[in-house]
This record gives sequence, C-alpha cells and structure tokens, in this order.
Amino acid sequence: MRFFLTAMVITAFTPCMFAQRPPMKPVDVIGVDSCAECHDEMVDSWRSSVHAESFRTLVLSAKAKEMAKKLDIAPSEIPMKASCVRCHFTQEYLASMPQPTEAVSCESCHGEGFDWIDQHYKKSISRSERIERAGELGMIHPGDTFKVTQTCYECHVIDDEQLVNLAGHPAMSEDFEILSWYSGEVAHNYLVQESGRATKRHSETLQPVPQERRRMLYLTGKLQHVAFTLRAIARAKDPPVDREGRFIELPDGNYTYAVQHAVQLRRLELDLKKVLHQVTIPQYTKTIAILRGLNLKTGNGREMELAAMQIGQQAQVFTEKYSGGEFGEIDPLLAELRPRYSEHYAAIVKALEIRKLAESQSSGASDEEAGAEQAGTTDRVEYVDGGDEGSSEIEERMEEATIDGARVGQ
Ligand code: HEC
Ligand code: HEC
Ligand code: HEC
Ligand code: HEC
Repeated sequence: MRFFLTAMVITAFTPCMFAQRPPMKPVDVIGVDSCAECHDEMVDSWRSSVHAESFRTLVLSAKAKEMAKKLDIAPSEIPMKASCVRCHFTQEYLASMPQPTEAVSCESCHGEGFDWIDQHYKKSISRSERIERAGELGMIHPGDTFKVTQTCYECHVIDDEQLVNLAGHPAMSEDFEILSWYSGEVAHNYLVQESGRATKRHSETLQPVPQERRRMLYLTGKLQHVAFTLRAIARAKDPPVDREGRFIELPDGNYTYAVQHAVQLRRLELDLKKVLHQVTIPQYTKTIAILRGLNLKTGNGREMELAAMQIGQQAQVFTEKYSGGEFGEIDPLLAELRPRYSEHYAAIVKALEIRKLAESQSSGASDEEAGAEQAGTTDRVEYVDGGDEGSSEIEERMEEATIDGARVGQ
C-alpha cells in the first residue's frame, strides 16, 4: 500500500457542491409490512440479512456507543440523528412523530413508497408504463441499473469526514463490490415473468440473475464506485499529512479519511484497467483519462467534484448504451467473485428459525394451514387493480397499514 501512498499528494480541499444522501422522508415511508402484503418472499429473505438485523444490534454495540460518545450523541439518540439515520435507519411517521421502525429497509433501496406503490403493479397499464410512472413518482426500480446501483454506494462509501477522523467510523465497506455483495444474504430475486401474464409472479425459490445482468451490475458498479470515492475525497478538509509530510494515522491505526479513499481510488483504477484488458468500453477509457488528468491536492475540491460528476455521467451513459450481452470476455473475472455473507448471517438465520418454530407452536397452527404453508402459495401477486376478486380485502389491509403508519397526524 505504501507504494500507492507515496505517489499521491493530498492535503486540504475546498467545500463541495454535491449533496450527501439525505435521510428518507418519514411521512412518505409506508413500511416493510406494506410490501409484505405481496412480496412475502423478499421480506423473509431480507429479515435474515444484516440490513434488517442491525435495527436490534447497532445501538447496543460497543463500537456505536464509543462513536456516539466522541460525537457527543447519547447512544439512545443514534436512531434519531439525521447524521446516522441517513445510512442506518428507516423512520416512519407514527403518532405524529417520526420514529425509527427499521434499519436498512425495502424503501432505503427502492425509494419511499407512498407515492408510487399503487402504480408499480397496476395491471391496466403496460409494464414499461408502470416502470416509467413509478419511477417518476420516486421508485428506484431494478430496471434502472444506474439508480439501483447508486443506492448501494451512497451508503457503503462513507462521505462524512468527521465520522471517520473523529469518531473512528469505517471510511468504506472494505472490498465492497456490488455483484458479490448483492449475491449473498441481500439477494431476493423471487419474481418470474410468465408469458400471458400482465405482471410478474413470485416464485418460492431464488431465481438466478441472468449473466448479462450480472455483467451490467459489475461494470456499472465499478464506475459508480469510482465516482462516489472521488466525491468523498473532494469533501475532505482535514490535512492527510503531518508537518513532515507523513500520512497521519488515526487512533484506530487507519489512515485519515482522505487517504483511505485515495488508496481505494487507486485500487479501483486497477480494476478498470483489468476489465479493459478483456473488453473495449469507451466509458472506462474516458474515466481513466479523467483520473489521470486529476491532481488530488489542496484546493482541487471543485475540480475533483466536477470529475466525479463526469464519471457519474459515464456510468449513466454506459447503462443506457449496453445490455451486457456485449461483454462475455469478462465472465472469468465474475466467476472469481464469491457471494457476500456477513459474519453474523448464520446466527441470524438460526435465531429466525427458532423464533418461527416457537411462534408456530404457540399459535397452534392447524395441520391444514401448515400443509398449505409448505406447499407454498404463489398467487399473492394476482390481486391488483380494482375489479379483481379479493382486491377489496387487500385494499382494506393496505388502508389499515396506512392508518397505522405514515399518515396518522398528517
Ligand atoms: C398489492 C401487491 C404489491 C405490493 C403491496 C407491493 N408490490 Fe411490488 N410488485 C408487485 C407486483 C405484482 C410486481 C410486478 C410488476 C410487474 O411485473 O411489472 C411488483 C414489482 C416490484 C418491483 C420491481 C420488480 C420488477 O422487476 O418488476 C419492486 C422493486 C417492488 N415491487 C418493490 C416493492 C416494495 C418496496 C413494496 C413496498 C413498499 C412493494 N413492492 C409493494 C406487487 C406489489
Ligand atoms: C454514509 C453512510 C453512513 C453514515 C452517515 C453512518 N454510517 Fe455507520 N456504517 C455505514 C456502513 C456502510 C457500515 C458498514 C461498514 C462495513 O461494511 O464494515 C457502517 C458501520 C457502522 C458501525 C459498525 C462499525 C464496525 O467497525 O463494525 C457502527 C457502530 C456505525 N456504523 C455507527 C454509526 C453511527 C453512530 C453513525 C452516526 C453518527 C453512523 N454510523 C453514520 C454507513 C454509514
Ligand atoms: C440493499 C438494497 C435493497 C434492499 C434493502 C431491498 N432491495 Fe429489493 N432489490 C434491490 C436490488 C439491487 C434489486 C435488483 C437485483 C437484480 O437486478 O438482480 C432488487 C430487486 C427487487 C425486486 C425484483 C426481484 C426480481 O426477482 O426481479 C423486488 C420485488 C424487490 N427488490 C422488493 C424488495 C422488498 C419488498 C424489499 C424489502 C423486504 C427489498 N426489495 C429490499 C435492492 C434492495
Ligand atoms: C441506507 C444505506 C444502505 C444502502 C442503500 C445499502 N446498504 Fe448495505 N449495509 C448498510 C449498513 C449500515 C450495513 C452494516 C450494518 C451493520 O453491520 O449493522 C450494511 C451491510 C451490508 C452487507 C453485510 C456486509 C457484511 O459482511 O457485514 C451487505 C452484503 C450489503 N450491505 C450489501 C448491500 C448492497 C449490495 C446494497 C445495494 C443493493 C446495499 N448494501 C445498500 C447500509 C446500506
């Protein structure tokens, strides 16, 4: 790593024009239960991920308490502080107050649901119209590769310098890569398209992600990663070197925020070059040219921001121009990636199984119900738009969910 560091000159930077990821608007969050009405499989799989489990564990962790202390935040206040909530929590409007209800939830990645929920499954319009309308109303649809990849980097590349330098928060998720990190405990591809049906239908088993799609996630992810990392560096104000020009080490043994991100940027540049050995991608070549002409040094914050914006645009152009079918040569690179499971995953799954077993025993579910559960009912997605049988029941339930949730007191 020293090798990279000596080649870099980074000191203090100027303020920036990019907004950080804001917390979600609690009044527009409708909550995981509203998705569970139809997307049971997704909710079950999400429950066993650290994104969900963190709601119970984060605040209790010694590390969180230590960080909060350094930032003058009472540990119990962490789920209310915008500076933590924007990446760690989901708040809903309950009893006329925003309250934390989950950690990283469906809507953290797909957008606050209030405005788009009844458009995104509407059978009376075509699928492309559904996607477009819901998108206009704030849905981050998986079909929008640019946006759906962006959400990961907004949280996994930490863009708050004091959080890192003062409180000892990690500067990034070490070795984050979107395809592998989506392939483990986070994956929830349970939908299948069947011919003759207006909308997709749930399957009980995880569906494979088509290889073209995997290539697009990987390749777009790298460009997003570069853009977000550069943006994070542009935000830095603390000098990364001491008077003798040595990189400053933080009490936790890591380098400062700016240096950690600069090291990451060099790693990503190598990743881009590795890809370019296999395939031709003009947006990659352009990105490397932009990085090469860039001075990561004092007073260059605005220039770096501009470069980050240009690279972000390259990522967008890339998703618009290609479908993934073009890049078969990178498959050996993708084959090396391993699905990412957190250290705690196995324990979470076990705890959930025990909880479920206890629940089914105490509720005394009849054999008939248990049988139906085992056989699995995949028709939940059927009841959409008015007119369908059973839709009024769902509407009623959704009505209730809304009353319990965001809209009370509004
Ligand atoms: C009343 C049933 C229903 C509810 C409630 C519902 N969805 Fe959906 N959702 C569907 C259906 C049906 C589709 C498939 C639409 C299609 O094929 O175009 C879908 C599709 C999606 C997709 C896009 C998948 C794709 O490629 O088509 C996402 C993402 C999604 N839902 C997220 C959510 C989230 C998040 C919530 C909760 C805030 C939610 N949904 C609530 C029925 C529902
Ligand atoms: C920009 C997004 C972002 C913000 C803002 C943020 N975090 Fe984090 N935090 C993360 C991510 C992502 C991780 C997981 C890092 C990893 O993969 O190791 C994390 C991890 C943590 C951990 C576990 C650290 C470890 O070393 O295991 C703690 C504790 C924590 N955050 C507390 C906080 C607190 C307290 C705040 C507010 C003062 C906060 N975070 C603000 C994104 C953020
Ligand atoms: C960490 C971010 C994240 C969270 C949390 C998340 N999703 Fe997703 N979701 C994604 C991504 C990324 C995709 C697209 C995956 C792909 O392209 O293969 C996706 C895909 C989907 C799809 C389409 C699946 C398919 O088979 O095509 C649905 C439906 C969906 N999500 C609903 C939900 C629901 C409901 C929740 C909450 C229980 C949820 N998501 C939580 C990021 C997330
Ligand atoms: C709203 C912020 C946010 C978004 C968006 C988000 N994450 Fe996370 N993610 C976190 C935080 C915070 C943690 C750590 C939670 C903890 O340890 O308590 C985490 C943890 C994870 C983990 C577990 C890693 C480990 O080994 O501990 C994976 C895997 C993951 N995220 C993948 C993704 C992917 C893939 C996406 C995009 C599709 C995504 N995340 C989007 C905030 C986010």
